[in-house]
Formats: sequence, C-alpha cells, structure tokens
Amino acid sequence: MAPSKKRKRATIHPRNKYSENPPDFGLLASLYPSFEPYVFCNRDGRHRIDWTDFNATRELTRVLLRHDHHLDWWIPDGQLCPTVPNRSNYIHWIEDLLSSDIVPKSQSNENAVKGFDIGTGANCIYPLLGASLLGWRFVGTDFTDVALEWAERNVKSNPHISDLIEIRKVVIQDSSFDDDRVLNGPLINCKRDVDEDSNYHGPPIIMGVVKDGETFDFCMCNPPFFDAIEEAGQNPKTSCGGTREEMVCPGGERAFIIRMIDDSVQLKQCFRWYTSMVGRKANMKVLISKLWEVGVTVVKTTEFVQGQTCRWGLAWSFVAPANKAIPHRIAEKTNDSFMLEGLQSGHSAFNLLQSVESFFCSNGASCKLNTAALYIDITYPNEHSDVPKPIEMHNKDSANQINDVHFRVSVFQQIPGTLLVKGSLQKKDTSSNSGTGAFSLMFQRLEVFLRNAFCKEKSAR
Ligand SMILES: C[S@@+](CC[C@H](N)C(=O)[O-])C[C@H]1O[C@@H](n2cnc3c(N)ncnc32)[C@H](O)[C@@H]1O
Repeated sequence: MAPSKKRKRATIHPRNKYSENPPDFGLLASLYPSFEPYVFCNRDGRHRIDWTDFNATRELTRVLLRHDHHLDWWIPDGQLCPTVPNRSNYIHWIEDLLSSDIVPKSQSNENAVKGFDIGTGANCIYPLLGASLLGWRFVGTDFTDVALEWAERNVKSNPHISDLIEIRKVVIQDSSFDDDRVLNGPLINCKRDVDEDSNYHGPPIIMGVVKDGETFDFCMCNPPFFDAIEEAGQNPKTSCGGTREEMVCPGGERAFIIRMIDDSVQLKQCFRWYTSMVGRKANMKVLISKLWEVGVTVVKTTEFVQGQTCRWGLAWSFVAPANKAIPHRIAEKTNDSFMLEGLQSGHSAFNLLQSVESFFCSNGASCKLNTAALYIDITYPNEHSDVPKPIEMHNKDSANQINDVHFRVSVFQQIPGTLLVKGSLQKKDTSSNSGTGAFSLMFQRLEVFLRNAFCKEKSAR
C-alpha cells in the first residue's frame, strides 16, 4: 500500500523564543517557588503540569512572562489565560507582514510601530508581548469592566513599557441594544448599515473606537469565537478559563470578523494591515471571499499550531501594492498559468469555472462561460476602479489610453485532484501596457482566491 501523504503541520514561528527551547518546567519550578507545587514528574522522568488546572496554567503564564519577558502579570480567577508561546506566534507573524514589502510602509515620521489590539482582555497579552519583545506602541481596547481594570493594572505593573500602551474603553453609546445574551448588563446601540451576512450586534469594534485622524500599522484580534456559551464546551484537556464575555458574541467569530471587515472598508488605509485570529477553518473560506468582494488589495493567511490546538491568522489590506511588486516583466505578461493540486474530492473543473465566474463578476467584470470547452471570457470595463493599475497607468499621459481589458481563463483536468488554470490576454492593446498589468494582477488575485477556496494546503501568495 502506498504510504499515505500526511500533511506537514505548521510549526512554531522560528523567531518565537520557544521554538528551539520549549519551557522547562523543572527549571522554572526550581527558580519560582510559587510554580513548584504545580509541577510533577511523569513516569518517563519528564516534568509536567496538569493542564486541566486553571491555577497551574495561570502560574505557568505568570512565570514565563516573568522569566522570559521581564513582565509582572496577573489575572483574576476564571479570566482567559493566554499561553505565551502561542500568543507570541501571532506577534511574530505580524512582524513578518510589516517587514515584507507586500504593501508599502506609510510615510509617517513616527518610527515606532503602532498597533491596535481589539479585545485586549484582562490579560492584555498582545500589547505586553509586542511592547516588550519589539518596542511596539499599542492601543488595547475592551468593553468589560474587569478587562479594562486588569489590563490597566497589567500595564502599570510594568513601568518600563507602560508609556507604550494605552488601554481604551469601547464606549457603549445608548440603551437601544436589545440582545443581552452576551452583555447581561449595559445596553448598547449599534444600529448602522450592517452587512447582510453579519448578525453581529455587539459593541463597536473599530469604527467608533479609533479616533479621528489616528492611523495604525496594524490591528489584531483574538475574537470571541462562539455564538453560545454551550458551544465553547471547554476543551477537557486544558483549562485556560474564559468568561462568557470573553468567549461569546452573537453570531460568533464569523459575525465579529465580518463587522471588522465592514469597518475596514470605511477606514481603509487608516491601518496598513487588518488582521484577526480565526478559530474555525470553515470560516476562513467565507471571510476570504468576503474580503475579495469588498475590494481589498491583498489577503494573507497562516496557521498557528500549538500542541493539539490549531488556529488561523487572516490579514488584509487596502493599501495599493508597492510598485516594485508589479515589475515590468509581470506587467508585460500576456499568458499566465498555475496548477491547483490537492483538490478536495468532488471539486470538478466545472465547479472551479463557476467560482472563477463569481470571482470576476463580484469584481465588476462581465463573463461569458463556455461549459463545453471549459473556458470563460472576461471583460473588464476601462472605468472599473478596482482593477489594479500597473506602473504605466500611474503616468498621467497614459491614463487616458486605457481600453477595456479582455482575457480568457481556461481550466484543464490533469491527474485526479489536480487542475491547471490558464489565463491569456485577448486583443492586446498595443498602445499601452495597461491591459497586461491589469490582467497579471487579476490573475494573481484569482490564484489566491482559488487556492483558498479549493485546496487542502491553503496558501496565499
Ligand atoms: C477571546 S478574548 C481575547 C483576550 C486576549 N486578547 C487574548 O488573546 O487572550 C476576547 C476579548 O474581546 C473583548 N470584546 C468583545 N467584543 C469586543 C468589542 N466590540 N470591542 C472590544 N473588545 C471586545 C472581550 O471582552 C474579551 O476580553
């Protein structure tokens, strides 16, 4: 029997302090007497803690923050207790996004990176880690009294970084909020033009919390994952605490992140990157499609793995990609192709073409599908503002010469589970390179979209 192809799991981020040296419980117990009662020796002689004991996991977090990050930290009983290696992965991923040249850095004079942590919680973990590891400035937001009080305490206990972190209360506006499933208390008015997909009715998230004129390099968020507390079900193998306010919001993480996307559409370039953690893989597909629909310029995804727990990272931006991301060589391409491997069973060439059609239609193109020959002809009207502009189109003189862009996308069945997608520019307008640049960029976006929608090994480029 052929050996089964096992998916290679993403590992801890290489710059994570714990990637080479996982926490040594024995050493920590010998150095920190408060941790010692929670550590025992297994039959194999290895030091362990009882992950189902909240006091043990909280004490571990406390000593790791003390020992490896020089931070004083505490949370009250029952509040969500973060695992330090896992939360550090998200910080390092954002560091990667910021240092990549996918979207250009802002021209601001401020050198310090400035982040916005949505729902910082009592533990305030992301601002504490971002400020201590990388010197980043943060605004950390929350709406519950306990989170605001303890986040503030955790900042003040660390005077060496306290100037870098502002804890901001999410202001609840008036009393017409009628869903008390989550809040059990103050009433909130969040009436606004909400996306039909989003049944989020909680406190403001970004809009209404960010102040006029503020800009940030990124936002990050570990959203309430669940729609109901029963869903949370608590993993019997661990006890990380987590109150209802921390774990639950109406509509769960999907509704919460859709509201973040809606907010980002309004705020656009006030943030260089918008990011969120996602707890359910199934939600990634929906959220990524939504992002392309609203016209983002780039989507990036990642996987955070820690022990048996897997989470995903989703990032998007409205900043136009750096010019150097559109080199001449690419701008002049008239044919392009990519292979989709590891397709989930049941996905045919026809399904894929239908997705190609909906992708381009939702981006403002008109499409003509030929199901017999498995191709689709696409026309972008010249005035469509969402078509990315290649270098040449930034030149005022050539801007008027842009014509409609026509291209064809064909799908070829390769071996089972593999499809080849080819694109070719039709009727190339020789008076300018505008069509070639638009074609190349839309084809790249299509590849990201299809990989995310169809492939088991998801990646965004
Ligand atoms: C899952 S906890 C995350 C806490 C912390 N960031 C972490 O990673 O451990 C979600 C947090 O979001 C807060 N929250 C929920 N809705 C919010 C909103 N609209 N604005 C700000 N915070 C919110 C909750 O009170 C809770 O503290």
